[in-house]
Amino acid sequence: MDDIPVITVDGPSGAGKGTISHMLADTLGWHFLDSGALYRVTGQACLIEGVSWDDHPAVAAVARHLDVSFRTAEDGEILVAYKGEDVSRAIRTEEGGRGASTVAAIPSVRVALLARQRDFRQAPGLVADGRDMGTVVFPAAPLKFFLTASAGERAQRRYKQLIAKGESVNLPRLLEDIEERDARDSSREVSPLVPAEDAIIIDSTAVPIADVFQLAMQKVKEKGFI
Ligand code: DC
Repeated sequence: MDDIPVITVDGPSGAGKGTISHMLADTLGWHFLDSGALYRVTGQACLIEGVSWDDHPAVAAVARHLDVSFRTAEDGEILVAYKGEDVSRAIRTEEGGRGASTVAAIPSVRVALLARQRDFRQAPGLVADGRDMGTVVFPAAPLKFFLTASAGERAQRRYKQLIAKGESVNLPRLLEDIEERDARDSSREVSPLVPAEDAIIIDSTAVPIADVFQLAMQKVKEKGFI
Protein backbone atom coordinates (compact mmCIF):
# COMPACT_ATOMS: atom_id res chain seq x y z
CA MET A 1 0.00 0.00 0.00
CA ASP A 2 2.93 2.33 0.73
CA ASP A 3 3.82 2.43 -2.95
CA ILE A 4 0.38 3.78 -3.96
CA PRO A 5 0.93 7.48 -4.75
CA VAL A 6 -0.89 10.19 -2.82
CA ILE A 7 -1.30 13.85 -3.69
CA THR A 8 -2.31 15.98 -0.71
CA VAL A 9 -4.21 19.24 -1.02
CA ASP A 10 -4.47 21.20 2.24
CA GLY A 11 -5.56 24.72 3.07
CA PRO A 12 -8.29 26.82 4.70
CA SER A 13 -11.96 26.57 3.71
CA GLY A 14 -12.91 28.29 0.50
CA ALA A 15 -9.42 28.29 -1.01
CA GLY A 16 -10.54 26.06 -3.89
CA LYS A 17 -9.11 22.79 -2.50
CA GLY A 18 -12.24 20.80 -3.22
CA THR A 19 -12.44 21.96 -6.84
CA ILE A 20 -8.74 21.40 -7.52
CA SER A 21 -8.71 18.00 -5.77
CA HIS A 22 -11.74 16.80 -7.74
CA MET A 23 -10.20 17.97 -11.01
CA LEU A 24 -6.90 16.23 -10.22
CA ALA A 25 -8.63 12.98 -9.19
CA ASP A 26 -10.84 13.03 -12.30
CA THR A 27 -7.94 13.77 -14.65
CA LEU A 28 -5.69 11.09 -13.14
CA GLY A 29 -8.48 8.54 -12.59
CA TRP A 30 -7.47 8.34 -8.91
CA HIS A 31 -9.54 7.98 -5.76
CA PHE A 32 -10.61 11.02 -3.81
CA LEU A 33 -10.71 11.61 -0.05
CA ASP A 34 -12.80 14.50 1.25
CA SER A 35 -11.52 14.35 4.82
CA GLY A 36 -13.57 17.42 5.81
CA ALA A 37 -16.71 15.39 5.04
CA LEU A 38 -15.69 12.85 7.72
CA TYR A 39 -15.45 15.63 10.32
CA ARG A 40 -18.69 17.16 9.06
CA VAL A 41 -20.51 13.80 9.31
CA THR A 42 -19.11 13.30 12.83
CA GLY A 43 -20.57 16.68 13.87
CA GLN A 44 -23.88 15.84 12.20
CA ALA A 45 -23.98 12.34 13.71
CA CYS A 46 -23.64 13.94 17.16
CA LEU A 47 -26.70 16.09 16.45
CA ILE A 48 -28.63 13.01 15.29
CA GLU A 49 -27.53 10.88 18.27
CA GLY A 50 -28.11 13.67 20.80
CA VAL A 51 -24.42 13.91 21.72
CA SER A 52 -23.11 17.36 22.70
CA TRP A 53 -20.04 18.56 20.73
CA ASP A 54 -18.53 19.41 24.14
CA ASP A 55 -18.71 15.83 25.43
CA HIS A 56 -15.33 14.76 24.06
CA PRO A 57 -15.36 11.04 25.00
CA ALA A 58 -18.87 10.64 23.55
CA VAL A 59 -17.94 12.51 20.33
CA ALA A 60 -14.88 10.27 19.95
CA ALA A 61 -17.09 7.20 20.35
CA VAL A 62 -19.37 8.55 17.60
CA ALA A 63 -16.29 9.04 15.36
CA ARG A 64 -14.96 5.55 16.08
CA HIS A 65 -18.24 3.90 15.08
CA LEU A 66 -19.14 6.32 12.31
CA ASP A 67 -21.34 4.50 9.80
CA VAL A 68 -20.60 6.75 6.82
CA SER A 69 -20.74 5.98 3.11
CA PHE A 70 -19.92 7.92 -0.04
CA ARG A 71 -21.63 7.48 -3.39
CA THR A 72 -21.19 9.36 -6.66
CA ALA A 73 -24.52 10.45 -8.19
CA GLU A 74 -25.11 10.41 -11.96
CA ASP A 75 -24.37 14.13 -12.18
CA GLY A 76 -21.00 13.54 -10.52
CA GLU A 77 -22.01 14.97 -7.15
CA ILE A 78 -20.64 13.00 -4.21
CA LEU A 79 -23.44 12.00 -1.85
CA VAL A 80 -22.70 11.32 1.78
CA ALA A 81 -24.85 9.10 3.98
CA TYR A 82 -24.88 8.49 7.74
CA LYS A 83 -26.47 5.15 8.71
CA GLY A 84 -27.79 4.98 5.16
CA GLU A 85 -29.57 8.39 5.41
CA ASP A 86 -28.44 11.09 2.99
CA VAL A 87 -26.82 13.94 4.96
CA SER A 88 -25.10 15.62 1.98
CA ARG A 89 -27.02 18.87 2.36
CA ALA A 90 -27.07 19.05 6.14
CA ILE A 91 -23.30 18.71 6.44
CA ARG A 92 -22.67 21.57 3.98
CA THR A 93 -24.58 24.21 5.93
CA GLU A 94 -22.75 26.85 7.98
CA GLU A 95 -23.80 24.96 11.13
CA GLY A 96 -22.34 21.78 9.62
CA GLY A 97 -19.06 23.63 9.11
CA ARG A 98 -19.07 24.90 12.68
CA GLY A 99 -19.77 21.41 14.03
CA ALA A 100 -16.97 19.92 11.93
CA SER A 101 -14.47 22.51 13.04
CA THR A 102 -15.49 22.04 16.70
CA VAL A 103 -15.26 18.23 16.75
CA ALA A 104 -12.08 18.34 14.63
CA ALA A 105 -10.28 20.10 17.50
CA ILE A 106 -10.78 17.06 19.78
CA PRO A 107 -7.58 14.93 19.71
CA SER A 108 -9.36 11.59 20.27
CA VAL A 109 -11.69 12.33 17.33
CA ARG A 110 -8.71 12.89 15.04
CA VAL A 111 -7.16 9.60 16.20
CA ALA A 112 -10.48 7.80 15.64
CA LEU A 113 -10.64 9.01 12.02
CA LEU A 114 -6.99 8.42 11.12
CA ALA A 115 -7.14 4.79 9.96
CA ARG A 116 -10.37 5.44 8.09
CA GLN A 117 -8.69 8.21 6.11
CA ARG A 118 -5.65 6.07 5.32
CA ASP A 119 -7.95 3.31 4.02
CA PHE A 120 -8.79 5.58 1.09
CA ARG A 121 -5.30 4.98 -0.26
CA GLN A 122 -6.17 2.52 -3.00
CA ALA A 123 -4.61 1.82 -6.41
CA PRO A 124 -3.97 3.52 -8.75
CA GLY A 125 -3.63 6.58 -6.45
CA LEU A 126 -5.33 9.01 -4.10
CA VAL A 127 -5.96 12.74 -4.04
CA ALA A 128 -6.57 13.72 -0.40
CA ASP A 129 -8.25 17.03 0.45
CA GLY A 130 -8.10 18.48 3.98
CA ARG A 131 -6.12 20.40 6.56
CA ASP A 132 -3.50 17.89 7.73
CA MET A 133 -3.24 15.50 4.79
CA GLY A 134 0.40 16.40 4.08
CA THR A 135 1.46 16.87 7.70
CA VAL A 136 -0.21 14.02 9.63
CA VAL A 137 -2.32 11.62 7.58
CA PHE A 138 0.03 11.12 4.59
CA PRO A 139 3.32 12.73 5.67
CA ALA A 140 5.29 10.72 3.08
CA ALA A 141 3.10 11.78 0.13
CA PRO A 142 5.30 12.52 -2.89
CA LEU A 143 3.37 15.64 -3.95
CA LYS A 144 1.80 18.13 -1.56
CA PHE A 145 -0.08 21.32 -2.25
CA PHE A 146 -1.15 24.00 0.21
CA LEU A 147 -3.82 26.14 -1.36
CA THR A 148 -4.67 29.46 0.20
CA ALA A 149 -6.44 32.76 -0.52
CA SER A 150 -7.25 35.87 1.50
CA ALA A 151 -10.21 35.57 3.90
CA GLY A 152 -12.02 38.34 1.98
CA GLU A 153 -11.68 36.51 -1.33
CA ARG A 154 -12.82 33.22 0.23
CA ALA A 155 -15.86 34.92 1.75
CA GLN A 156 -16.72 36.40 -1.67
CA ARG A 157 -16.48 32.95 -3.33
CA ARG A 158 -18.66 31.35 -0.66
CA TYR A 159 -21.14 34.23 -0.98
CA LYS A 160 -21.48 33.67 -4.75
CA GLN A 161 -21.90 29.89 -4.26
CA LEU A 162 -24.68 30.35 -1.72
CA ILE A 163 -26.44 33.04 -3.77
CA ALA A 164 -26.33 30.69 -6.79
CA LYS A 165 -28.03 28.04 -4.62
CA GLY A 166 -30.77 30.56 -3.83
CA GLU A 167 -29.83 30.92 -0.16
CA SER A 168 -30.04 34.24 1.64
CA VAL A 169 -26.62 35.21 2.94
CA ASN A 170 -24.88 38.06 4.63
CA LEU A 171 -21.33 38.78 3.42
CA PRO A 172 -19.91 40.35 6.63
CA ARG A 173 -21.33 37.40 8.63
CA LEU A 174 -19.71 34.94 6.20
CA LEU A 175 -16.36 36.70 6.54
CA GLU A 176 -16.68 36.58 10.33
CA ASP A 177 -17.47 32.83 10.17
CA ILE A 178 -14.47 32.18 7.92
CA GLU A 179 -12.11 34.14 10.17
CA GLU A 180 -13.47 32.37 13.25
CA ARG A 181 -13.05 28.95 11.63
CA ASP A 182 -9.53 29.81 10.39
CA ALA A 183 -8.54 30.84 13.91
CA ARG A 184 -9.95 27.63 15.41
CA ASP A 185 -8.39 25.37 12.75
CA SER A 186 -4.98 27.09 12.93
CA SER A 187 -4.65 27.45 16.69
CA ARG A 188 -5.75 23.98 17.84
CA GLU A 189 -3.11 21.87 19.53
CA VAL A 190 -3.43 18.78 17.38
CA SER A 191 -2.93 18.82 13.62
CA PRO A 192 -3.30 22.59 13.23
CA LEU A 193 -3.74 24.01 9.75
CA VAL A 194 -0.14 24.59 8.64
CA PRO A 195 1.59 23.80 5.35
CA ALA A 196 3.86 20.75 5.33
CA GLU A 197 7.52 21.75 5.03
CA ASP A 198 7.67 20.21 1.56
CA ALA A 199 4.31 21.56 0.35
CA ILE A 200 3.99 23.71 -2.75
CA ILE A 201 2.11 26.82 -1.58
CA ILE A 202 -0.32 28.35 -4.06
CA ASP A 203 -2.08 31.62 -3.24
CA SER A 204 -5.21 31.71 -5.38
CA THR A 205 -6.47 35.14 -4.23
CA ALA A 206 -5.94 36.72 -7.64
CA VAL A 207 -5.52 33.55 -9.71
CA PRO A 208 -8.43 31.97 -11.60
CA ILE A 209 -9.09 28.35 -10.64
CA ALA A 210 -8.24 27.14 -14.19
CA ASP A 211 -4.74 28.62 -13.81
CA VAL A 212 -4.31 27.03 -10.37
CA PHE A 213 -5.24 23.68 -11.92
CA GLN A 214 -2.73 24.16 -14.75
CA LEU A 215 -0.01 24.90 -12.26
CA ALA A 216 -0.93 21.83 -10.21
CA MET A 217 -0.97 19.65 -13.35
CA GLN A 218 2.47 20.90 -14.29
CA LYS A 219 3.77 19.61 -10.93
CA VAL A 220 1.90 16.32 -11.43
CA LYS A 221 3.66 15.89 -14.78
CA GLU A 222 7.05 16.80 -13.32
CA LYS A 223 6.53 14.01 -10.77
CA GLY A 224 5.87 11.59 -13.62
CA PHE A 225 2.32 10.72 -12.54
CA ILE A 226 1.05 11.34 -16.06
O1 DC B 1 -12.85 21.05 4.26
P1 DC B 1 -14.13 21.33 5.04
O2 DC B 1 -14.55 22.78 5.04
O3 DC B 1 -15.23 20.42 4.64
O4 DC B 1 -13.76 20.97 6.57
C1 DC B 1 -14.67 21.18 7.61
C2 DC B 1 -13.94 21.32 8.94
O5 DC B 1 -13.30 20.09 9.27
C3 DC B 1 -12.85 22.38 8.96
O6 DC B 1 -13.28 23.57 9.57
C4 DC B 1 -11.72 21.78 9.74
C5 DC B 1 -12.02 20.32 9.81
N1 DC B 1 -11.04 19.49 9.09
C6 DC B 1 -9.91 19.12 9.78
O7 DC B 1 -9.72 19.53 10.92
N2 DC B 1 -9.01 18.29 9.19
C7 DC B 1 -9.19 17.87 7.93
N3 DC B 1 -8.29 17.05 7.38
C8 DC B 1 -10.33 18.27 7.20
C9 DC B 1 -11.23 19.11 7.82
